[in-house]
Amino acid sequence: ESGCFTYDPGFTSTGSCDSSITYIDGDKGILRHRGYSIEDLASKSDYMETCYLLLNGELPTKAESDEFKNQITYHTMLHEQMLNFYRGFRRDSHPMSIMVGVVGALSAFYHDSTDIRDPQQRLIASHRLIAKMPTIAAYAYKYSIGQPFVYPKNDLSYAENFLHMTFSVPCEEYKASPALVRAMDRIFILHADHEQNASTSTVRIAGSSGANPFACIAAGIASLWGPAHGGANEAVLNMLQQIGHKDNIPKFIERAKDKNDPFRLMGFGHRVYKNYDPRASVMRESCHEVLEELGINDPLLELAMELEKVAVSDPYFAEKKLFPNVDFYSGIILRAMNFPTSMFTVLFALARTVGWVAQWKEMIEDPGHKISRPRQLYLGSDARDFIPVDKR
Ligand code: SDX
Repeated sequence: ESGCFTYDPGFTSTGSCDSSITYIDGDKGILRHRGYSIEDLASKSDYMETCYLLLNGELPTKAESDEFKNQITYHTMLHEQMLNFYRGFRRDSHPMSIMVGVVGALSAFYHDSTDIRDPQQRLIASHRLIAKMPTIAAYAYKYSIGQPFVYPKNDLSYAENFLHMTFSVPCEEYKASPALVRAMDRIFILHADHEQNASTSTVRIAGSSGANPFACIAAGIASLWGPAHGGANEAVLNMLQQIGHKDNIPKFIERAKDKNDPFRLMGFGHRVYKNYDPRASVMRESCHEVLEELGINDPLLELAMELEKVAVSDPYFAEKKLFPNVDFYSGIILRAMNFPTSMFTVLFALARTVGWVAQWKEMIEDPGHKISRPRQLYLGSDARDFIPVDKR
C-alpha cells in the first residue's frame, strides 16, 4: 500500500511520489523541512524564511530574504474586481467555502501566471498565491462579520499584515503585540508543509494534468476542509466545549474507544505519526505563552491538558499509538487571539499554501513527471450478459 492507494505491484502506481521537501519519521516523531528540524525553524526562523526554504531548498541570505519579502509584499493586494466575488456569498457562508471559491476565481484573473511551462510564470503564480492568501482569508472573515475590507500595508510583516487586515477597523488600526505577531508567525511555520498529506496529494494530482495553478490550490483547500484533516482544529474546540468539564473526560474517552460510537478524540491520532506530533509540542508551549501574554486563563486549555494526560496514559490509546497532533492545541491559541472557530481551518489553509505550492512546483519541474493515475483493486462483478428490462 502506498498511502491510501492500494495497487497490484505489477502496475506502476502514481499514487506515491519522490520529494526532497519534507521528511517525516512517524515512529520517532521527527519532522524536517529541507533537513532543518521543525523545532529549529519554529524557534529560530520565521515564516517568510521558511517559505523561501520550502520553495528553493536553502535558507536565504539577507539579500535573498529581503528580495523575497519585497516580492510577496508586492503581490498582497487583490484585484479590486475580485471583491465582487465575496458579495456573491450568503452572509452566513463558512469562510472555507469562500476560500475555495475566491482562490479558484484567481484562475480567472491572473492570466500572466498560468502557463506552467514558463518558469517565470510559475514563480509569479507561487508568489501571488503566498502573498494573497492572508488578504483573501482576512476578507473572508471581514465579510462574514459585515465589516469593510481593510487593505494590506506594505510596512508590516506577513503575520502582522494579516492580523491588521483581520482585526483593524476603519476608525481604529489594530496593533498586535510583538509576542502575538511572533505566535501567529510560528503557527504559520508549524502548518507550512507536511509531506504527502491528503490536501497536498490533491494539489499534486490536480497539478499533474497541467491544470491552472490557482485552481489546483483551490482543490487543496477543499480537501483540507474535512474534519479528518485540517478541519480538526475547529472540531477540537467543539469537542472540548462538548466535554465541558474534566469530570466528563472518562466518559468521552470510553466513547472514543467504542467502534459503534462515531465520537473520535479530535486532535488525536495521525496517519503517519505513531508518536508525538512534534508540532503539537511546540504548539502547546506557544499556547501557554499566548495565554500568559493576553492574561487569559482559558478553562479549555486546562481541560485539553487534562484530556491529553488521561488519553496518553490510557492502554487503548497507547496500544493504538494515538498522540496529540498539530490540531490539538492550535484552536485554543486561535480562540485566545479572538479568531472564531470558523476561521481556524482558514488559517491552516493560509499557512499550508506554501507547502502546496512548493510540492506542486517540485512536481511540475520534474522532467519525468506524468499525470497522476492511481490504480485500484477491482472487487466488482465479473463479465456478464445484459438483461433486458422486462426480464429483470
Ligand atoms: C492533519 O496527513 C497529514 O500529515 C495531515 C496533517 C497535515 O499537517 O497535513 O498532519 C494534518 O490532518 C492531522 C490529523 C487531524 N485529524 C484529527 O485530529 C481527527 C481525529 N483523528 C482521526 O480521525 C484519525 O486519527 C486520523 C484520521 C487522523 C487517522 O485515522 P486512521 O488512519 O484510522 O489512524 P490509525 O490507522 O492510526 O488508527 C489506528 C486505530 C484505528 O482503530 P482500529 O481500526 O485499529 O480498531 O486508532 C483508531 C482508529 O479507528 N483511531 C482513533 C482516533 N484516531 C484513530 N480512535 C479514537 N480517536 C481518534 N482520534
